[in-house]
Amino acid sequence: MSTHDRKPFYVTTPIYYVNDKPHLGHVYTTMVADVVARYHRLRGDDTFFLTGVDEHAAKVSDKAAEHGLSPQQWADQNAAAFRDVFAKLEMTNDDFVRTSSDRHKAKVTEYVAALIASGDVYAGEYTGWYDAGQEEYVPENKAKEYDYKSPVNGKPLVKKAEKNYFFKLEKYRDDLLKFYAERDGSDRGSYVQPEARKNEIVNRIKEANDIPISRTGSNGWGIPVPGDDSSGGQTIYVWIDALFNYLTYVDDDDRRHYWESGATHFIAKDILWFHAAIWPALQMALSKCDGYAWVWGEEVRNNQLVYTHSYWVSESGEKMSKSLGNFLDPAAIDNYVDEFGLDALRYFLATRGPLGTTDSAFSPDLFVEVYNSDLSKKIGNSSSRVAAMTAKKLDGMFGFASDYRHMHLATGTPLGVLLTGFQNGMDTLKLAQAGDCAIDVVRLVDSYIEETEPFRIAADGDTREELETILYSCAEALRIASVLLWPFIPDKCEQFWSRIGCGHYAERLKDKGRGDLAAWVQWGQLQPGTPIEKGEALFPRYQVEKK
Ligand code: MSP
Repeated sequence: MSTHDRKPFYVTTPIYYVNDKPHLGHVYTTMVADVVARYHRLRGDDTFFLTGVDEHAAKVSDKAAEHGLSPQQWADQNAAAFRDVFAKLEMTNDDFVRTSSDRHKAKVTEYVAALIASGDVYAGEYTGWYDAGQEEYVPENKAKEYDYKSPVNGKPLVKKAEKNYFFKLEKYRDDLLKFYAERDGSDRGSYVQPEARKNEIVNRIKEANDIPISRTGSNGWGIPVPGDDSSGGQTIYVWIDALFNYLTYVDDDDRRHYWESGATHFIAKDILWFHAAIWPALQMALSKCDGYAWVWGEEVRNNQLVYTHSYWVSESGEKMSKSLGNFLDPAAIDNYVDEFGLDALRYFLATRGPLGTTDSAFSPDLFVEVYNSDLSKKIGNSSSRVAAMTAKKLDGMFGFASDYRHMHLATGTPLGVLLTGFQNGMDTLKLAQAGDCAIDVVRLVDSYIEETEPFRIAADGDTREELETILYSCAEALRIASVLLWPFIPDKCEQFWSRIGCGHYAERLKDKGRGDLAAWVQWGQLQPGTPIEKGEALFPRYQVEKK
C-alpha cells in the first residue's frame, strides 16, 4: 500500500453545550463531518473523526439548578442524549469528547500551566461586557455597536468587573495576519473557508486585544486555573477549555499523528471568531512552551482549516435554536427517520444544507421533493429497473459485456468528468457538488436506457449479447454511483451491494474499516454470471397526502 493510501485525516465538529438536548443544528454539523469522514475512509485514509460535548458553561450549571440537579448530573443526562442521538444516526465518530472527563481536564490544566509559565497567560483585571447566552466577552466598541444587547438572542449584555487571567492575544496579531497571508492561495486554501468569511476576521485581528481566559463565581463548575491562589476560585473560561478539546483527545502517542496532519474543523458562523483568531493564537503560544513544538508544526500550518457553515433556519427565516424556541427537536428528527429512513435524512441535510455562506430554510415540502426526485426516482427506480430487466430477460444473472460498441457509458467522457467532479467536491467540502455528480452517474444510466431501449431487445438469438452488454453496463455504472454515494447513504448502498455481489465492500468498510475508492470506481468489477437480487425498492416513492 502506498503512503498516500494511509494518509492521516482528522475531522472535528464543535463540542455542543449540554444545557439542553440535541437539535437539528447539532446533528447537521456532526452529519456533515460524518459524510466527510466516511469519504476519507472510503479512499483508504487513516481517518479520525471527533465530536462531543462542552460541559463547563454557566448555562449548564444554571439549567441544572433549575432542575434541582448538580451540574455534573445535568451534564451527564444531556451528554448521554447527544451520544445516543449520534449513535442512532450512525455517526462514525472515533471518540466522543466530554470536557468533564479526567483526560480532558488533566490536559487543559497542563496546557494552561505551560502558558502561565511562558508568560502568555497573566493575571489582570477585566472590566467590560459579557454575553451570558453566548458565554462570550464583548469589547466596548462591539457592545456599543450591538446597543448593549446580545446580537444572538437580544438579551442585555452584563457589565463585568473581575480579576482574571488574560491571554496575550494582542501579541499574536502579526503572527496571525502572517499565517493568514501564507495560506492564501496555498494548496489547501485559506485557513477560514468559505473564503468569503475571511475578511471580517482579518480586520478584527488587526484590532484584537488580550482576552480574559478565566472567570470567578462558577462555584467549582469548571477546570481550576492551575496555581491560582486568589480567594475567588478562578476557573478556566469555558471557551478556552472547549477549544482545547481538539487537542486533548488526540494528545497521546497513538493519536498525535492525526493532529500533526492538520485538522479540518467544521463549525457554524456563530463561533467563527474563537476558531479563526483565538484558536490559532493559542496553538502558536502553546507551541513555544517546552515539549509542544508539534502543536504548530509545518503540516498543521499548511493544512488546518476552519470550515464555517451557515444556519438552518425555519421557513420564516429565523435561526433554529433552542434559545429562540424554534427548532426541530429530537422527536422531529425521529419522525423523519421513521418516515423516510435515516439515509434520506442524511442525504437531504448533507446536500441541501447551509454549507455555503447563505442560510437554508428547513422545508418539509422541499424534503419530500428531494427525496422523490433524487432518491426515489433516480437511485431507487434505476436500480429497480435494471434488476427487473435482468431478472425477466436474463434469468437474474449478469451476462458478459462483450460488445464494446455499447460501452460508451464506461468509455465516454461523462463518467470520468463526474468522478473528478465528485472527488473535487469532496476534497473542497462542497458536498452538494459531490452529491450531484454521484446522482448524475445514475442520470447517465437513465439516458443510456432511453437510448438503447433494452426493454425492446430480445434475450435470445442474435441480440442476446447486445442485451447482456447493455444491462451489464447499467449495473456497472450503478455500482460506481453507489460507491460514490456511500458516504451520504451508507445503509442503502450496502443493501444494494449485497444484491449485486459486492458485499465485500461493506465488509471492508465495517467498523470504520478502510475502503479502496480508486479501485472500486474502475470499470468492469462486476463478475459475469453473478446473480442479481431484485429486493424491495430502496427508496419507495413518497406520496404526499392531499389535504
Ligand atoms: N460549545 C460551543 C462550541 C465550542 S467548540 C470548541 C457552542 N455550542 S453550541 O451547542 O451552541 O453549538 C453551536 C454549533 O451547533 C454551531 O457552531 C453549529 O455547528 C451547530 N448549530 C447550532 N444551531 C444551528 C443551526 N440552526 N444551523 C446549523 N448549525 C447549527 O457553541
